[in-house]
Amino acid sequence: MNSIKIIFSRFKGYLKDYIPQFCIAVLGMIMAAIGTAGSAYLIKDVLDEIFISKNESLLYILPYIVVAVFFLKALGTYLQQYFTAYIGHDMVRRFRFMLLENLLRLDLSFFNRLRTGELISRNTNDIDRIRNVVSSMIPDFAREIITAICLLAVVIYQSPKLAFFALVVFPAAIYPLSLLAKKIKKYSHQSQAKIGDMTSALSEIFTNIEIIKANNAADKELERFKSHNERFFHLNIKAERTSTLVNPLMETLGAVGIAIVIIIGGSEVISGTLSVGGFFSFTTALFMLYTPIKRISYLYNKMQDAVAATERTFELLNQSPNIIGGNLEFPRSLLSISFNDVRFGYDENEILKGVSFKANSDEIIGIVGTSGGGKTTIINLLMRFYDANNGQILINQSEISDFELQSLRQNIGIVTQRIYIFNDTIAANVAYGAKEIDENRVINALKVANAWDFVENMEGGVHAMLDEFGANLSGGQRQRIAIARALYNEPRILIFDEATSALDFESERIITDVIERIRSGRIIFVIAHRQSSIKNATKILVLGGGKVVGFDSKEALLQNCEAFKKLSHIE
Ligand SMILES: Nc1ncnc2c1ncn2[C@@H]1O[C@H](COP(=O)(O)OP(=O)(O)O)[C@@H](O)[C@H]1O
Ligand SMILES: [Mg+2]
Repeated sequence: MNSIKIIFSRFKGYLKDYIPQFCIAVLGMIMAAIGTAGSAYLIKDVLDEIFISKNESLLYILPYIVVAVFFLKALGTYLQQYFTAYIGHDMVRRFRFMLLENLLRLDLSFFNRLRTGELISRNTNDIDRIRNVVSSMIPDFAREIITAICLLAVVIYQSPKLAFFALVVFPAAIYPLSLLAKKIKKYSHQSQAKIGDMTSALSEIFTNIEIIKANNAADKELERFKSHNERFFHLNIKAERTSTLVNPLMETLGAVGIAIVIIIGGSEVISGTLSVGGFFSFTTALFMLYTPIKRISYLYNKMQDAVAATERTFELLNQSPNIIGGNLEFPRSLLSISFNDVRFGYDENEILKGVSFKANSDEIIGIVGTSGGGKTTIINLLMRFYDANNGQILINQSEISDFELQSLRQNIGIVTQRIYIFNDTIAANVAYGAKEIDENRVINALKVANAWDFVENMEGGVHAMLDEFGANLSGGQRQRIAIARALYNEPRILIFDEATSALDFESERIITDVIERIRSGRIIFVIAHRQSSIKNATKILVLGGGKVVGFDSKEALLQNCEAFKKLSHIE
């Protein structure tokens, strides 16, 4: 019963919104239960009055009552099933949405911890299990309990003495079942985790198929998948072994009960204290009673499975972001950005070991350093994807955490090597994230990004559709669309994180020209490997060993920064 309590307390708040549907469903349950018990009760009258007493007037009444009673049961079942299914589907819709809504609020560090496949599995599989609980388990559970109570009433009414004997067997049946339930709960936990393992293994395989083929690693991947698959199989088999034991066990116990009833009931009919009709009505009700009890124990076990899914879903729903914005608006005019002794690591491993520098308005800051040196990490902190463990990041003397998150991110335009282009018009791609598309601003951004000449020549101009991943554009064109997107909100800070690394020299030149053109009133960071990408940088920040080892003009660095000389040399 504990699991029902957990589930019920979890869903209480949501179930409130379905009171009308819920009332009809409950009414249906009661109708179905009365119909079931009524059909058992009627057997006494049918047998005693029609077959034994040969009462002809009742011959033309009782059959109609029988039909009415069955109709009551059918209608009740229909109402209950339809309305509970409605509640279930509607709750799934709400939960899926809430879950994604909450996930999208969470910090990046959360997404680093959980794998994509697992998140998808939670948003589909687990939530579907919850629907199962709401629309079939809880209502079935309730209906079977009501039915059991009504049937018990018939049993006791027909013969209290017999009822006592028949029903002592029941408690004995419950104990082994509760042991089984515990076992099934354990397996179900494990098997759900395994589904997550499998989906994430599959999604890893399919997203990296080229790499797998290129490395002839198909066998290795298959081997890895095989072990997940087999562990999943074994868990399912174990769970099946225990859960299929429940039915035969119940039936054997039931047969013992029936045997006792026949012995005692037979002797009562023979001695005349019970009518034949009464006895058959009693045994029918008793037989019927095994169905709801069997169902209740089955549902109880299934419920364990649902509790696990519910807990996992609510665990995600209750996650809250650690990075929360303040209430400061981003300043109209940006004067400076300062890092003061900033320290940060994604885990225990410290990546930035005290980074300090100051960038002023109109400056283009090149950032260079070895791969994996922490260049992108500096940007991640500036975007507040993560918070520094130590030190300060200031924008015009205000702590970065004092700004509204939305206002901060709206004022930072970022272009990376990875470009997210989706299947929609150019205008929608450029104005991505904005509530409404302002066409003039789109065109303006495209012009500044040096993209207008090729967009203008496309059929439909800004209304031309882009393929998913931008397959109908060249690499340089895609990159310029990405720059237009970054410029659309007229951000004060612009970041180019290896944006030109994959481009040819001509495309790179176009982009470095764009950067030069938009510098006024802004601070621009350019992370690049090639010296040519940062040729117009005012200052270059050289990152080495998690610290700033040089921060000066290119000429000065070439004079006195060993690390910079080395980096220039490699190129
Ligand atoms: N999300 C992450 N979780 C854990 N470690 C990370 C994460 N992102 C980057 N790192 C590690 O931090 C270091 C710096 O990465 P990064 O700032 O991306 O370097 P780069 O200078 O090449 O841009 C690397 O060693 C990288 O492995
Ligand atoms: Mg990087």
